Amino acid sequence: MTEKPVINFGLEGIYVDESAISKVDGQNGKLWYRGYTIEDLSEHSNFEEVSYLLVYGKLPNKKEYEEFVKKMKERRELPKEVMDVIKAMAKDSHPMDVMRTAGSMLAMYDKDLNNKEKDATIDKVITLISKLASIAAVTGRFRKGMSYIPPDKSLGHSANFLYMLTGKKPTPTEEKLIDLMFILHAEHSTNASTFSVLVTASTLADIYAATTTGIGTLKGPLHGGADEAALKMMYAIGDPANTEKYIEEALEGKQRIMGFGHRVYKVYDPRAKIVRKYLEERMGQNPSEEVRKLLEIALKAEKLMIDKLGKTKGIWPNIDFFSGPLYRSLGIEGEMFTPIFVASRMSGWGAHVVEYWNNNKLFRPLEWYTGPLDVPYIPIDKR
Ligand code: ACO
Repeated sequence: MTEKPVINFGLEGIYVDESAISKVDGQNGKLWYRGYTIEDLSEHSNFEEVSYLLVYGKLPNKKEYEEFVKKMKERRELPKEVMDVIKAMAKDSHPMDVMRTAGSMLAMYDKDLNNKEKDATIDKVITLISKLASIAAVTGRFRKGMSYIPPDKSLGHSANFLYMLTGKKPTPTEEKLIDLMFILHAEHSTNASTFSVLVTASTLADIYAATTTGIGTLKGPLHGGADEAALKMMYAIGDPANTEKYIEEALEGKQRIMGFGHRVYKVYDPRAKIVRKYLEERMGQNPSEEVRKLLEIALKAEKLMIDKLGKTKGIWPNIDFFSGPLYRSLGIEGEMFTPIFVASRMSGWGAHVVEYWNNNKLFRPLEWYTGPLDVPYIPIDKR
C-alpha cells in the first residue's frame, strides 16, 4: 500500500471483536452485564453472583451459587512467598506495583498453568478473583506496618476484603457500599485494560500473564488510576470555596480534570450516577468532616464541569469521580482505590479471556511507517 490509510489513533471507534459480556451505550448512558442493567445488578445482586454471571454467562441457581462462593472462600489465603514479597515491597512501592508483582507470582502455584480448556480457565479465574482481593487487602495493611488479618469464611467476598484491610467487620451499610463498588467496577467491555488482557491472551500466554498485563494497564491515570488522581485533586482543592478557582485555572492551563470524560460515554456515566446516589445517602449517616468536605467539593466541581464541558464537549463525570469520597467514607486511603478496581475487574478480564479463547485470533494490527528506508549503514568509528 502506498497511499496513507485513515488511522484511528488510540483505536477510537474501531471494533476489534464481538462479545456477549457487556454493552456500553455511550449516547444514552446505559450499561448492561450479560443483558442485565447495572442499576438492577447494583441494587439487587452481589459481587459473587455478578462474577458468576460474567464468567458463565448466566445467573447461577442456588446450588451453583453456593459452590462458586465456597470455591472463592477456600482460595482466599495467599502462598507464604507471595506474602513475603508483598511485605518486602509494600512500604516503598505503590500498591499497584505490589499488585502487579504479587498477582504475577500466582502463576508459580498453578500446576496446570497452560491448560486453556474452558473449565480450567474458569477455575483459574475464580482463583484470581479470590486471591487478588486478598493481595490488595494484605498490601494495604503491610504498607502501614500493620499485621496480617486472615480471611473470615463467615463473610462474603467484599466484606471479607474490607475486614482483611481494616481489621474491622463491616456494618451492613459498609458491606453494601464496598460490594457496590466491586459490582460497578467488575466489567466494562473493551476498555484499555481488558483490551490489553486480550492482546496478551491472544498470544496464548497463560491467564496470569494476561492479568499482569491488565494490572499494568489499569494503573495509568487516564484509565483506572483516575480514581486516586481525582481524590488527590480534591485534596489539592482543599476547601469547597476554592473549587471554582482551581477548576478554572486547571482548564485554562489545559489540564485534565480527573474523573471526567470518557472515550465511549458522551453523557453521564451510569456507574457515576449510582455512586453519587449512594454517596448522597451516606451523607445522612453522620459522615466525617473530611468526607463531607470532599463531597461538597465534588458536587461543586461536577456542576462547573457540566456547565463548561458537559453540554459542549460531552465531558461528564465518570465512575472514578465520586469513588474517592465514597471510599474515604469507608476509611480506605487513595492509594488503595485502583487495587480495588483490579480486584473487581478480574471478573470482567476473566470472562473476556474465557470468551476470547473460544475462538482465539492473535491481535496484530498495523502501523503506518513514517521513517526513512534503505539508509546506508555507517560503522560506529565513522559516525
Ligand atoms: N478534563 C478536561 N478536558 C478533557 C477531559 C478532562 N477530564 N477529558 C477530555 N478532555 C478534552 C481534551 O482536552 C480534548 O479537548 P480538545 O478537543 O480541545 O483537544 C477533548 O476533550 C477530547 O479528549 P481526548 O483525550 O481526545 O478524548 P479521549 O476519548 O481520548 O479521552 C479520556 C478519554 C482519556 C478518559 C479523557 O476524557 C481523560 O483524560 N479523562 C481524565 C482521566 C479519567 O478520568 N480517566 C478515567 C476514564 S474511566 C475509566 O477508565 C475507568
